[in-house]
Amino acid sequence: MRHLISIGDLDREDINYILKKAEEFEDVARGEKKLRILEGKILGNLFFEPSTRTMMSFETAMKRLGGDVINMTAQEASSIAKGETLADTIRVVSGYCDAIVIRHPLEGAARFAAENSSVPVINAGDGAGQHPTQTLLDLYTIKKECGRLDGITIALMGDLKYSRTIHSLIKALALFDMRIYLISPEALALPEDIIEDVSAEIRRARLEEVISEIDVLYVTRIQKERFPDEEEYRKVSGSYRITAETLKSAKDSMIVMHPLPRVDEIHPSVDSTKHARYFQQSFYGVPVRMAILSEVML
Ligand code: NCD
Repeated sequence: MRHLISIGDLDREDINYILKKAEEFEDVARGEKKLRILEGKILGNLFFEPSTRTMMSFETAMKRLGGDVINMTAQEASSIAKGETLADTIRVVSGYCDAIVIRHPLEGAARFAAENSSVPVINAGDGAGQHPTQTLLDLYTIKKECGRLDGITIALMGDLKYSRTIHSLIKALALFDMRIYLISPEALALPEDIIEDVSAEIRRARLEEVISEIDVLYVTRIQKERFPDEEEYRKVSGSYRITAETLKSAKDSMIVMHPLPRVDEIHPSVDSTKHARYFQQSFYGVPVRMAILSEVML
């Protein structure tokens, strides 16, 4: 594996390989075992959009494996959103490190970075495009918490239009034998071209219809920053929310996932139910990113 730009770069076998490797790193991720296989290596984190989990879990993964990290964060995305400037930044930074993790507000930015980099590039989110490392940790969570990937029934709920986590995940779900339900307000529906691109059993539904049947409920926040118009955002803001009450008819084993950060779509009453897995999910980002880093750097 050289670059990781889209989950479509990986097949089922690649995914299973990374998930298996991640499992081997779990005790190192928890700090229970020492392993310094990335000693002497430097990761360059380039974040042109806000991030907490992704940036910090990459940093933790790198440091737990004995490596170092250099960080560049730019909150004023508009001043760096020009192709040429990004190309120059990448050329410079690839001289300072052994791999680059990039998050950028423009779709396609990570692939463009890879074309200009002399070291491997990992996409940590490009606009509403792809977020492949999140997808790998999402799959890892399902595998660990449900015991399998094949034969799962999953509902994707929320902002399916702009969530890159959904656009990435759905591609990967199609590689396994899964039944997929889409639950969203009409204005936030999954774009048709993405549905057409995915060869899986997909159906639109309402949560009440499928709640007792699903194994996984994957919720996303409304991606406010991707709305072209504030007024459009206001129309859908607060339009869906799950509470402990909503989950009453779910199977005992049903898990609720969320890439986080949540805003108001999962009420805190869900946190103490047997279904909540979103904090566990964010921890799994560490062993999964360890597996990815060791794959691209060694
Ligand atoms: C997601 C993202 O950046 O796309 N965050 C993350 O990486 N965990 C989801 C989001 O911001 O809603």
